[in-house]
Amino acid sequence: MKILSVVGARPQFIKLAPVAKAISRADHHHVIVHTGQHYDIQLSDVFFEDLQIPIPTVNLGVGSGTHGVQTGAMMSALDGVFEQYRPDCVLVYGDTNSTVAAALCAVKMRLPLVHLEAGLRSFNRDMPEEHNRVLTDHAADLCLAPTAVAIGNLRSEGLSARSRQVGDVMIDVLFQTRDAASQRPPILPEGVADSDYYVATVHRAENTDSRERLHAIADGLASLDRPVILLAHPRLVAASERHGVLLHRGSCRVIPPESYSEIVRLVLRSAGVVTDSGGLQKEAFMLRRPCTTLRSETEWVETVDLGWNTLVNPASMALLPGIVANRRPAPVDDEPYGDGTASVRTIQEIEFLLDGGS
Ligand code: UD1
Repeated sequence: MKILSVVGARPQFIKLAPVAKAISRADHHHVIVHTGQHYDIQLSDVFFEDLQIPIPTVNLGVGSGTHGVQTGAMMSALDGVFEQYRPDCVLVYGDTNSTVAAALCAVKMRLPLVHLEAGLRSFNRDMPEEHNRVLTDHAADLCLAPTAVAIGNLRSEGLSARSRQVGDVMIDVLFQTRDAASQRPPILPEGVADSDYYVATVHRAENTDSRERLHAIADGLASLDRPVILLAHPRLVAASERHGVLLHRGSCRVIPPESYSEIVRLVLRSAGVVTDSGGLQKEAFMLRRPCTTLRSETEWVETVDLGWNTLVNPASMALLPGIVANRRPAPVDDEPYGDGTASVRTIQEIEFLLDGGS
């Protein structure tokens, strides 16, 4: 069986890592296509090295652009790639422009399309990721959902017959990395003491595009009661320069983005996480570190329901220091994201689909 994966942005490389291992163990042929949406070494190459992901067969090198230009450039290149490799199925991951571009090309060429991390919804139509998820789920022949809540969302959109719950592959990679990563402490910025800091990331368009909002978030982080290690995504750096918002002040220490293993190390030894990233909310939960999410909704509602994640609307940043300093979640045993076998189940469901099973 020939599976063609399309990836392009940082969280997709992380999801690809356990899936590539599972495909190789099952002895299937894997063609990896990198769209080039993320091209900085720190957002791309370090993940392939750190997580030992095979080098992509093809790199489209599309780079940045407006949504239409970026997505369109991917689509016009992918037609030829799909034609050349004629895979048995196309596997797409998550909710980026790379996901929706590959989904549209695959469905137009009538190549079986599998969407991993299907069924997530923020119900916020202002988010580009929300359009990408909904369009991809409705185009897919097989929707592989991480959670029961995601399966419920797919059901309510009439997609039950094509949907399966397999668990979350980001938990597989976390389990595969956590023990090795914890063997040594993280590298901390000068003046930051072990276990006495927060880890922060901010990159979503809704938080970086408006000067007022970014300014309020920077103020909130600067006022926290412990040092904040802010891993700055290129979108954040560019927006802070454009808006004239100073990030490195008060409690806030800005460092470049890190490898996956180093982020796991940093979170493991932290007092908590403050973020607008989807993946980091779950990683904080799985490592049982309190998370504060700088959004008014989340796709990962289980982290909130179980008490380990608190949403703070970025329009109310004055509340942030009090909320972050007073987080004491009660211990829980629940593991709503699966047991670390989602990538193996993903391959089994694809085999079943291509054998004519669904
Ligand atoms: C994308 C995804 C988002 C995901 C995130 C993870 C979409 C719509 N969004 O957001 O779902 O959570 O990746 O990081 O696909 N840039 C660089 N170097 C790079 C990549 C980007 O400098 O390697 C800069 C460019 O100025 C670019 C901006 O960052 O315009 C934003 O990049 P883009 O790919 O549009 O989206 P992300 O914010 O990274």
